[in-house]
Amino acid sequence: MRRYLGAIAPLFGTVPLLLALGGCGGTGTEETAKTPAASPEAKPETPAAKGSGKAELVTPSRNVDPKKLIDVVEQEVEGGEASAGPSPDSVLWLLPNTSLIQDEPYQLTPPLGLPSTLAGVVPASNPLTKGKVELGKQLYFDPRVSLDGTVSCATCHNPEKGWTDSLKTSAGINGQFGGRNAPTVINTAFGRTMFWDGRAPSLEGQAQGPIQNPIEMGKQSYKEIITRLRTIPAYQEQFKKVFGTEVTLDGFAKAVASFERVASLSGNSKYDKYTRGGDLKALSDSEKRGMVLFGISLSSDDEFKPGVTKAKAMCTSCHAGFNFTDENFHNLGIGWDEKKNEFADLGRWAISPIGAKNSAELGAFKTPTVRDSSKTGPYMHDGSLATLEDVVEHYDKGGTPNPSLDKDMKKLNLTPSEKADLVAFMKALDGEPIKVALPTLPPGADGKSPDPKEALEMPTAKAAFNAFHPGFVH
Ligand code: HEC
Ligand code: HEC
Repeated sequence: MRRYLGAIAPLFGTVPLLLALGGCGGTGTEETAKTPAASPEAKPETPAAKGSGKAELVTPSRNVDPKKLIDVVEQEVEGGEASAGPSPDSVLWLLPNTSLIQDEPYQLTPPLGLPSTLAGVVPASNPLTKGKVELGKQLYFDPRVSLDGTVSCATCHNPEKGWTDSLKTSAGINGQFGGRNAPTVINTAFGRTMFWDGRAPSLEGQAQGPIQNPIEMGKQSYKEIITRLRTIPAYQEQFKKVFGTEVTLDGFAKAVASFERVASLSGNSKYDKYTRGGDLKALSDSEKRGMVLFGISLSSDDEFKPGVTKAKAMCTSCHAGFNFTDENFHNLGIGWDEKKNEFADLGRWAISPIGAKNSAELGAFKTPTVRDSSKTGPYMHDGSLATLEDVVEHYDKGGTPNPSLDKDMKKLNLTPSEKADLVAFMKALDGEPIKVALPTLPPGADGKSPDPKEALEMPTAKAAFNAFHPGFVH
């Protein structure tokens, strides 16, 4: 049984520490969970403001000629490895030359059921722009980000598979498997922390992890990755127009995060049409019963008599708000080994700062959204539950008893038809299908462009692994 002993990777510093926690790298600082979001019955609210969200272009804060500074930084780096301290390694970030920037604000209207604007969740340091989202999309699908050119972000977060990979735990480079299930990227625009344990504070912080994770995209330094991307002329051109710099890690993270933020929005489900669109027929009787069991009242003008106890299943204790998550961490007993009396994965506890470790966080993981969950299985941080029916059974028995089990995990005594209603309701949270056309990737110095489709499957690595581990992959 593997145990995960995490350490917090410092976000800054020339050699970011790596965590092999089993998924998507380890970069990111730790942030405490905020107060739970409002109940889904409340109007969708804009999550706590993180920035103005106004699409302004970045300007250097100091009154200097940015071009000169870029030259200085580059000279320093050419002389060898950049030293720690105030002078940055130019692959990490460069001050922009704003006169190179040619981009325009990105406009979007989130689908029904989500906040009407992303203004409250887009960081002021990374406004949404058209060129940036387009660049981020290419990078998200580009396997040249990985060491051997076989793995892209989309390998494990494929929009066609609910922005995940349908695997129990993810397969990365050379078919190696990590210890955690790939969470969906859907609606992460609203996420207050990233990863199952919340160790990255933002999509920008998250995006830096996997490219350096030895299991996911290969053992490679940021310098190697960024230097490789700089050999692709179109990326150098696009970075100049979008960020006013060469390719940098800072720009990579910002572009990829911007693409994820706008492209993965899921709403306009049957549930949204019922609750926000005023269409009382959008939900079937079974879905309405499931909604009430889940913890959400029917519309006040709906005369349907559900005949079930409201919140009997207690799901809204944690899956609350327009995105069906309290953004908090809970122990459901997933991964608890009853024989050994230990957790396979320590979860939130492992990343809490030394001196602030709280045993209530042992084996606790972030509440995921339930939107689109019919597409995101297998479920839970270790992918141990194959179907939504299995998930409901786990809750019905009150989770797996262990010393840190969440106080809201109780035996539910649901009847078979109530269980079916809950599953039906969850399926009614499937959003309008999100269509993401695969981008055309720019040619490298060799004149060749990889086909982003090939990285979606990794057939050889996966087939080889599955042949040795029958039954492991769902
Ligand atoms: C080999 C598979 C793999 C690859 C490649 C990969 N990821 Fe992940 N991703 C995961 C796993 C597994 C996790 C969960 C890890 C954890 O919680 O410790 C994750 C977590 C995430 C999350 C957090 C979602 C949430 O709700 O907390 C985001 C966002 C994400 N990845 C985006 C990306 C991006 C962007 C890339 C490319 C730069 C990428 N991933 C590459 C497997 C992968
Ligand atoms: C005590 C808080 C809590 C309650 C109550 C709760 N959940 Fe969860 N839910 C979570 C957490 C935390 C996870 C992830 C746990 C893990 O991976 O260890 C989760 C995972 C899930 C998942 C898997 C999503 C995925 O992408 O893997 C589904 C589906 C789900 N819950 C549905 C429900 C339903 C239905 C109910 C009510 C019967 C419910 N939850 C009650 C906190 C809760």
